[in-house]
Amino acid sequence: MTKAAITGLSHYLPDYVLTNDEIATMVDTNDEWITTRTGIKERRVLKDEHAGSSQLAIPAVRDVLEKTGTAPEEVELLICATSSPDYTWPSTACVIADALNIRNAMCYDILSACTGFLYCLQQAQAFIKSGIYKKIIICSAEKCTSFVNYQDRTTCALFGDGGAAALIEPSEEFGVEIAKIHADGAGHDHLIRYCGGSANVPSHEAVDKGLHYIYQDGKYVFKNAVNFMTSVVTEVMEEGKLTLDDIDWICTHQANKRIIDAVRQHLNAPEEKVICNIEHVGNTSSASIPIALHEAALEGKIKKGDRLLLAAFGSGFTWGSVYISWGDCKI
Ligand code: UT7
Repeated sequence: MTKAAITGLSHYLPDYVLTNDEIATMVDTNDEWITTRTGIKERRVLKDEHAGSSQLAIPAVRDVLEKTGTAPEEVELLICATSSPDYTWPSTACVIADALNIRNAMCYDILSACTGFLYCLQQAQAFIKSGIYKKIIICSAEKCTSFVNYQDRTTCALFGDGGAAALIEPSEEFGVEIAKIHADGAGHDHLIRYCGGSANVPSHEAVDKGLHYIYQDGKYVFKNAVNFMTSVVTEVMEEGKLTLDDIDWICTHQANKRIIDAVRQHLNAPEEKVICNIEHVGNTSSASIPIALHEAALEGKIKKGDRLLLAAFGSGFTWGSVYISWGDCKI
């Protein structure tokens, strides 16, 4: 049966390193609190305030095209996951496509927050399995620091900027084996950016109230992230009749090391099977899973034939899990 395989993967992080110590100069916090409560030591920041999130995905998409020998005109579909689009419209996918001379593709954004990369994988596999497209770029573009309030200690230490990209092609051997993707809008106002869209048009009043920044009910989101990710990985494992022996690597969304640990403990999995890079990137929303995967592949951890269990949770609420077999992937 034809599967959607990741045949190229890349990521990009901006240069500026924002450490916990520097955050402690802005709000009442310290390295010890941030490290023990979140597992984060530092995160990257795109300092140019006029550069949008597209600037973080463009280098990654370019790299994937070059490494896989794909010409821009061969790309049939480009999907960009972003919680921090360059503009409300046009789509960030169109901005990225323009920068890379991709002129023939269908291009659109997916706004499903931290679950965005898994939403992209699910959509890409639908186009691959139906035979509609054979060369698909999925990417994540996240300038999360654009919605962070550096006077709010409950959120400002969590987020970082980054981008990633993957080429998805048909394969008879490797690729997405099982994907379970969900959403429940009942949680939408627990993790939300109130101003910037049409519900609260940008105004002096809205900005004065800080409505353009992220609002998060941290404890509530934490509990739901653990519950929904553990239930969806269980769903995938039951459908595939999988045991831990069928899983070489577990890679979840990198939001909080304690959430990652909770999912691992639920699976009874050893720490060695878990891919975790939160310490040096923080939460990069939809970019977090592909950045972690690419770093692990570059470190020689993920190899051809490995089977990976991915899981994510984000604003919406959205959540999902994908079980994927790793084939020939250019990194
Ligand atoms: O990617 C989308 C999904 N997002 C997530 O999954 C994030 C989920 N939430 C979390 O990761 C955690 O809830 C946080 C890291 C945001 C907070 O950790 P927590 O263990 O839930 O702390 P808390 O909110 O219960 O706060 C405990 C205390 C509070 O003080 P009081 O009320 O007990 O006096 C906070 O004011 O810690 C205080 N606090 C801080 N103290 C020092 C909150 N942030 C900080 C800080 N430094 N940065």
